[in-house]
This record gives sequence, C-alpha cells and structure tokens, in this order.
Amino acid sequence: MSKILGIETSCDETAAAVLEGTVRKFGRTEKLERSARQEDGRVRILSNVIASSASLQEKYGGVIPEQAAREQLKSIIPVIKEALEQAKITYNELDAIAVTQGPGLIGSLLIGVETAKTLAWAWDKPLIGINHLVGHFYANWVQEKGEKVGEVEEEGEIPRFPCIGLLVSGGHSDIVLFEDHNKFRYLGGTRDDAAGECFDKSARLLGLPYPGGPLVAKLAAEGDPKAFDLPRPLIGSGDLDFSFSGLKTAVANIVKFGKEEKDWKDQKVKDFCASLEMAIVDCLCKKTIKAAQINNIDQIIVSGGVAANSTLKRELRARFPGKVFVPPPFLCTDNAVMIAASAFYNFNPIEPTALQADPSLSLG
Ligand code: KG4
Ligand code: ZN
Repeated sequence: MSKILGIETSCDETAAAVLEGTVRKFGRTEKLERSARQEDGRVRILSNVIASSASLQEKYGGVIPEQAAREQLKSIIPVIKEALEQAKITYNELDAIAVTQGPGLIGSLLIGVETAKTLAWAWDKPLIGINHLVGHFYANWVQEKGEKVGEVEEEGEIPRFPCIGLLVSGGHSDIVLFEDHNKFRYLGGTRDDAAGECFDKSARLLGLPYPGGPLVAKLAAEGDPKAFDLPRPLIGSGDLDFSFSGLKTAVANIVKFGKEEKDWKDQKVKDFCASLEMAIVDCLCKKTIKAAQINNIDQIIVSGGVAANSTLKRELRARFPGKVFVPPPFLCTDNAVMIAASAFYNFNPIEPTALQADPSLSLG
C-alpha cells in the first residue's frame, strides 16, 4: 500500500489530505482488460483537512483572488502538518506528493505548486501535477477508512470504463467520455456561465449570501418546482452544450418584478428556488443522458460542487436507466482528497523544477 499527500489550492481553499491505496503505474492500465478494472479498487482517506476563507467570501459576496492567496500563504504549512498528524504518519512514510497544477486563480495555484515542489525536493518524493477538473472525477474512486462512502449502490463498487463524466462546479459545466484512466474526450460544455455560477448569481439576486448553491437547494426543498415557468436554454439543441446566462437573465427579470409585488414572501421564494433548481437540473440531466445514449454507455460519474445537489442526484438516477455515481457532498466541493486519489490512478511523476502552475488547463 502506498500513501500519497494531496495538496489543493486552486480557488480560496487550502486543502491537504493523505490517502492510501495501490498505485497504478502510468501506462500500465492501458494493457488491462476492462473486466479487470474492478480489481483496481478504491483508495482510502487517512486524513482530510480544509481551511477556507468562507467568512470573508460571505462578507464580500465572493472570492477576492489577492485576499485568498494571502490567506493560503498563512495556512498552507499548518494544513499540511495537520493532514500528516491526522493520518498518524510522518513525511518519511509518504510515497509521493500530488498537487493541483490548474486551472484556478494564479496566485492561489502558485502557493500549492511551489510548496509541493519544495517539499518534493526536500523530502525526495515523486511529484505529480494534477488537473483540478480531472481530479474532481476521482472523488468517485474514494473510500473512507474502509467504510462504504457515497451513494454507490453496491459496496466497494467503482466506476467502469467507458463512462460519461459530468463536471458541474462554480466555474465549469462539462461533459466528457472517459475511455480509461488518463484517457478522455471532451463532448460538450457550457457556452457561457457554469451551473454553479447560475446558482450563485441567482442567489445573489435573491439577496442570499455566497456561495448561493447550497442555500438555493435548501429553500428549494420546501418549494414547488412547477411554480415558475423558467427557460431551459439549449435543451432541445442537437449538441451536448449548455447555456445558463439566459436563465440568469430570466431570474433577474422575475426577481426584480417580484420584489415590487407585495406577495413575494417566504413560500414564493422557496417556490422560485425550486423552479430554478429544476430548470438547471433538467438541462444537466438531458444533455448528460443524451451523451450516454449517443455513445451507448451505461455509467455516468458526476463531480464538482453542484454534484452535492440532491435534486440533481435524484433526477439523474430516476431518468437514467444505467448506473450513476455521485461522491458524498464533502467530496464534491473542492478538497485535496480528490487530488491525491487522482494521482493513484494517473501516476506520472514530474521533476519538481519542471512543474509550473497553469491557470488555463481545461478538459478540452
Ligand atoms: O467544485 P467547487 O467546490 O468549486 C469549483 O471548482 O468551482 O464548486 C462550487 C460550486 C458553487 O457554485 C456552489 O454554489 C455550488 O458548487 N454548490 C451547489 C451545492 N453545493 C455547492 N450548488 C447546488 N446545490 C448544492 N447543494
Ligand atoms: Zn473545483
């Protein structure tokens, strides 16, 4: 069993985690049959530490890059120390270090990447740079302390290839086809705003604090999703793309009008949140399931902060006849567990001096 330290600092979080599992040497899995995949197994969480400037975000209505980086500079070493302590290991017992290389805020990425490079050099450990967007998907390969984690239907079951990946976060809404570890094809994505961004900006219009997604979801649970007739942009288009900016404009118009009405009270806000949530969920389900059908694939893996949305999970499962993997909510939003997990399945060390933070990495 190997142990990998993961480090994640792409946005405002400073996160470190230690995971234990079997490393798949880069390229080796190419030769394995698909049926052998199940033997790859899951990786286990030994520790998971996250420091975030949530109170500052709430105060300013979002993340201020400069401020986020300054906070991360203060917390990166204590967070890594805490991750090793919680895992009850010393750095000697680590087999490798994995770090988010991009995409993200450059100031934030640099703190994680430069710290990881320094530690890899000082501790003489292999260093692996991880694409944050790919990393999100690997939350579906994780198990916590030997227990069943998440919403998989059968204990210990992991996704099989090929599978369709839906990434829905604050900055991305992408659909990819995974043929294997480290082998995927971009199928479609948002042409403007991301799904999480639509949740956040709509919440802001409603006067709710940042990040708005979880609050909209909470209010939506007591609302009627059919109460407001909101647009589902591009839902009938022949491609696998999304567009959420038109929905946001519709929200802005309705909220502005609604605030002038006297009956825009508690229940109406709940109904509105439920309608908004269902409009986003309808778009995501339609295109993701279409991607699976076109490619004759029976497994979907979901990831990113919006994957924590229980309506999305419920509706995808209800509408898709195949298997839908969704990580538990604490692994959907940004964390270092997914970064370390990704390294186990995509073990491709790089010289510390050669690794560069890259804010423009994508899935395309
Ligand atoms: O993946 P993530 O933590 O950060 C990025 O890489 O962007 O995603 C954050 C996004 C935010 O837009 C947040 O509002 C959204 O995920 N989110 C949710 C829920 N929990 C987090 N959106 C809808 N329902 C939720 N329960
Ligand atoms: Zn993320």
